[in-house]
Amino acid sequence: MEAARTLVLLGAVLLGAAGASAREVCLGTDMKLTLPSSLDNHYETLKLLYTDCQVVHGNLEITHLHGNPDLSFLQGIVEVQGYVLVAHVSVSLLPLDNLRIIRGSQLYDASYALAVLDNTLGEQGLRTLRLRSLTEILLGVVYIWGNPQLCFPDPQSIDWRDTLDEQNDHARRHRLQPRASECEQLADNTLKHVQLVPLHVGKGAGEKRPRTVRPACRHFNDSGVCKENCPPPTIYDPVTFQTKPNPNKKFNFGATCVKSCPYNYLAMEVACTLVCPRANQEVLIAHPDGDEMQKCEKCEGDCPKMCYGLGMDNLGVMDNHGVTMVTSANVEQFNKCKKIFGSLAFLPQSFEGDPVTNTSGLSLEQLSSFKRLEELTGYLYIDAWPEEWSNLSVFENLQVIRGRMLYKGVFSLAIQNLHVRSLGLRSLRSVSGGLVLVHNNSQLCYTNALPWDGLLHPTQGPHRIVSHNQGAQLCGG
Ligand SMILES: *[C@@H]1O[C@H](CO)[C@@H](O)[C@H](O)[C@H]1NC(C)=O
Ligand SMILES: *[C@@H]1O[C@H](CO)[C@@H](O)[C@H](O)[C@H]1NC(C)=O
Ligand SMILES: *[C@@H]1O[C@H](CO)[C@@H](O)[C@H](O)[C@H]1NC(C)=O
Ligand SMILES: *[C@@H]1O[C@H](CO)[C@@H](O)[C@H](O)[C@H]1NC(C)=O
Repeated sequence: MEAARTLVLLGAVLLGAAGASAREVCLGTDMKLTLPSSLDNHYETLKLLYTDCQVVHGNLEITHLHGNPDLSFLQGIVEVQGYVLVAHVSVSLLPLDNLRIIRGSQLYDASYALAVLDNTLGEQGLRTLRLRSLTEILLGVVYIWGNPQLCFPDPQSIDWRDTLDEQNDHARRHRLQPRASECEQLADNTLKHVQLVPLHVGKGAGEKRPRTVRPACRHFNDSGVCKENCPPPTIYDPVTFQTKPNPNKKFNFGATCVKSCPYNYLAMEVACTLVCPRANQEVLIAHPDGDEMQKCEKCEGDCPKMCYGLGMDNLGVMDNHGVTMVTSANVEQFNKCKKIFGSLAFLPQSFEGDPVTNTSGLSLEQLSSFKRLEELTGYLYIDAWPEEWSNLSVFENLQVIRGRMLYKGVFSLAIQNLHVRSLGLRSLRSVSGGLVLVHNNSQLCYTNALPWDGLLHPTQGPHRIVSHNQGAQLCGG
């Protein structure tokens, strides 16, 4: 039966632009070589993530693309704060034409700012990597290997000094694949006035590098002016010999200065953040115009007791080495929580139990402790659920998923591979931060019963893909 499988992908997209700034910002991802969901929807996922994005606050990971897809959505990207990874891609051309700077604030495999790996699939493979605006890599190594179809100039002939910051002491450890013999005939003069431009030299590619490339700001961009710091919260008044509040103060938001923190970010003294630091708590400030803004505020004395989810340790800082799923061994800590700081993930092992530690799988009774949950600051990822439970009604009171942490840097809410017949998320009214995925739930009907358009914040979409959906007739109307 053709429609035997419900396959729905509903997408929401990216964080909105920074206040009045027209430069669209997106978060980037943290999936490395893995697929966050499946190959079926990977292209759509990347397209949702990067359409209209100019500044990637995290990593740009372009992976698992094949055939002849339209990749023009990559052309707007100007700046990447983390690393750029291009791997397991067999399309012939990647148009990163406007990428100017890779900051390397995170590095792939702890070393690489730009990694171009294994982009080949039989006869097909990456031939042209257009990076004709790239002028700076502030930190990290360049690694280009395993791309037999990529015409790459003789590594000795490339002058990296302009591209790589002088203080970037990784610079001597690049690993560059040898020049393919069929690329020999490329004229050497294409290589002379380039920094990373040789990378875009594909077979027969004749593009000229633009004459002037305006470099990106090294530190902060304050409305077009490059500065070392954003305008501080206080200034010194030479008349009174005192500091006073600065009416023109701005917050650091990535490498830009903003008047107020964008939607979903928390304001700290000088910067916008997604997680309050230790000994701080989140405080909600209601605006008369209905907008709500949140900030981090120092607790007076001890902070009130909070419930922490996955991805946080109990000090309130990120803990990437921690637990990866809810199990019967840790479910107690969520008992009676109304708000969880962090994320929740359910994987097959959550329900299988573990004979080694003599723990049983999660029971419905244990999960009923989530009935009180109203707010999650991270993501909700459900990749397994016992067949006999027909819905997710243990989350029936969940109202808000903030998505300040995303599953693999992609999803705020993902529900896939389940046998549920309905979602039962009847209180859910807001999902922010990342994409929403409802995928491969073979019995799931009424996916449209949730008001998706209202659920997703207006600046973040509503971008939604519904594909291979269960036919309404099979849902009994
Ligand atoms: C600074 O940001 C403005 C938008 O606010 C943008 O137009 C400009 O290109 C940026 N300048 C640099 C040097 O990155
Ligand atoms: C495992 O736990 C059950 C009850 O939770 C107990 O009856 C049993 O003896 C335990 N087995 C081992 C090997 O510890
Ligand atoms: C949802 O699932 C629970 C537990 O399996 C069940 O008791 C309830 O009847 C279900 N609700 C609907 C509307 O199917
Ligand atoms: C779809 O979900 C089922 C479980 O419901 C799983 O066995 C199957 O592998 C999934 N298919 C894909 C393509 O992920």
